[in-house]
Amino acid sequence: MVTGDAGFIGSHLAQALVQAGAVVVGVDRRDPATDPTAAANLAALQRLPGYMHVTADLLNCAIEPLLVDANAVFHLAGIPGVRPSWGPKFSEYVASNVLATHRVMDAVTRMGVPRLVVASSSSVYGPTEGGPSVETDRPQPASPYAVTKLAEEQLCLAHSAQAHCPTSVVALRYFTVYGPRQRPDMFTHRALTAALTGQSLRLYGDGHQRRDFTYIDDAVAATIAAATIPTASGVINVGGGSSASLLEVINIANSLSGREIQVHQENPRSGDVLTTRADPGRAHEVLGWQPQVDLHNGMRAHMQALAAETAAYGRAA
Ligand code: NAD
Ligand code: UGA
Repeated sequence: MVTGDAGFIGSHLAQALVQAGAVVVGVDRRDPATDPTAAANLAALQRLPGYMHVTADLLNCAIEPLLVDANAVFHLAGIPGVRPSWGPKFSEYVASNVLATHRVMDAVTRMGVPRLVVASSSSVYGPTEGGPSVETDRPQPASPYAVTKLAEEQLCLAHSAQAHCPTSVVALRYFTVYGPRQRPDMFTHRALTAALTGQSLRLYGDGHQRRDFTYIDDAVAATIAAATIPTASGVINVGGGSSASLLEVINIANSLSGREIQVHQENPRSGDVLTTRADPGRAHEVLGWQPQVDLHNGMRAHMQALAAETAAYGRAA
């Protein structure tokens, strides 16, 4: 089962699993029949045998019937995004990231599912000195979102540590994932869209903040390894591919498109950290994983996908 399959990472993961021969039940509260983003994310998947989408809210749906014969659950459903978490939507973050996760863990325990992989976040580390973050570092979440992601991963691990729980848990701390179908609130999507369309780009701060950008295919490979390697458990960083500043991302977008992005600088946003950087050692040791796609090639693929979408919208209009 893949929760959040109508989202960015979940749709890629479900597709890769089905293409590898797995039977996948996807669960998401976004309905592809009425939600254009969900429809676009699931378009390729819905044509594949071995895949079924269920539109349901994990806060109140019956989860156990969806888990019959499941040998792994990938729990990616949640409310992502650092900056909006300060506002009135915080209750939604708590509901989906914490309360719904508790229901999922209850159900997988009762149904005897042997492995659950949960999507955690680099944001749990908070401000760092610039050096790579190791899984044993003390978390210092700097936003309400990050607090819910820390609660989410620790909740799953607490369930798993109960004597009667048959489920081993791997919590993956993804570092800023990018690539085709990336959420439109994220920076890489916005920079590439600005480069393609000529719209201006809002830059929060001076652009020297750095992220350990992780290409979607690399994130998916780590996620599948986390479910299939018998000895994997605990917290694992998924990042370490391409440390770059936002200004470097803008430069790559400029050079890929041949157009100079118009940048409007605004104040830095609360809860954003200056630098994220993964120590990828545990991912390599436990999962045998290392990122394969560098930022230039990943952004090229991301831009090609956005350009194809823009052309398709143009034809439909
Ligand atoms: P996304 O918003 O594209 O996908 C999340 C999906 O979860 C959405 O389709 C949403 O409808 C679904 N969902 C939310 N609450 C639900 C509920 N109560 N019941 C059923 N479905 C629900 O986000 P994404 O970028 O693909 O992120 C996926 C996961 O990875 C999230 O948990 C996020 O916190 C985490 N994460 C993402 C990144 C990143 O860079 N994208 C980095 C770190 C962690
Ligand atoms: C991303 C995801 O959005 C989170 O869900 C995820 O948990 C997190 O990665 C993670 O790694 O754990 P973030 O690093 O904030 O969070 O990624 P972006 O949303 O792409 O923002 C990156 C930087 O670009 C931030 O400093 C942000 O302030 C800046 N930004 C973003 C802008 O300057 N302009 C924009 O229009 C959008």
